Amino acid sequence: MTEDTANKQAPHSNLPPQTGEGANESLRGSPVNRHIRSFVLRQGRVTVAQQRAVNTVGPRFGIAYRPQHLDLNDAFGRNAPKILEIGFGMGDSTATIAAAHPENDYLCLEVHTPGVGNLYKLIDEMQVSNIRIIQHDAVEVLRDMLGEVALDGVHIFFPDPWHKARHNKRRLIQAPFIAGLVKKLKLGAYIHVATDWQDYAEQVLQVLSDEPTLQNTASDYAPRPEYRPLTKFEKRGINLGHGVWDLVYKKAV
Ligand SMILES: C[S@@+](CC[C@H](N)C(=O)[O-])C[C@H]1O[C@@H](n2cnc3c(N)ncnc32)[C@H](O)[C@@H]1O
Repeated sequence: MTEDTANKQAPHSNLPPQTGEGANESLRGSPVNRHIRSFVLRQGRVTVAQQRAVNTVGPRFGIAYRPQHLDLNDAFGRNAPKILEIGFGMGDSTATIAAAHPENDYLCLEVHTPGVGNLYKLIDEMQVSNIRIIQHDAVEVLRDMLGEVALDGVHIFFPDPWHKARHNKRRLIQAPFIAGLVKKLKLGAYIHVATDWQDYAEQVLQVLSDEPTLQNTASDYAPRPEYRPLTKFEKRGINLGHGVWDLVYKKAV
């Protein structure tokens, strides 16, 4: 595979990337489609540099949400292992991982506009070509666009924990979501979740262990895989004695 092929413009990217106000509209969903969201849309300030990246980098690396099957090899312009990331935040870990692993392709989902703009900016600054971004609810992207894909891995790093018990239903990682997600995994593919909230870690351990097609790669929590960089926030937490829990499961059947 040549660098040229890998850099081929994604065919879906001739659509305007769904970033900014229009994207937020589409994220609200139609009344028939509504489900409990794992996020709250915050307005968030988009910096000039992030907006510039949206305008200049977005058309090449962004894929618009649409309720239609997405051919991932087409979207990346090559046949390479495909890793899905759900909720990349500001995208720092995402860009670092993608730059260190040019052999993989990273399909990255986030709803928060400043984060999306920031990852476009990092793509440009770090000259990475193996990231594509969809600014949309991961639940709907999985349901509507990734019907027949075979993923090699899934990253979910520090999902919003929804601390209060009455908000537990908002947590992304619940049995029905995982049951749907495992259907998109190749045999041997992995799901990697990291969280700094012990209560959420325990819930994830329970949900992933209860999923019959998954096998834990550790006896419970896994050592941090070398590809996941320590975030600034995490380093600060570790210095304060706070824990971080990594969970890595493989699709076994
Ligand atoms: C606590 S932040 C962590 C961000 C990043 N992974 C990190 O480690 O810094 C969680 C992110 O997940 C995103 N998120 C939550 N639910 C989502 C969903 N259903 N689809 C896409 N993104 C989602 C939120 O917008 C938020 O930016």
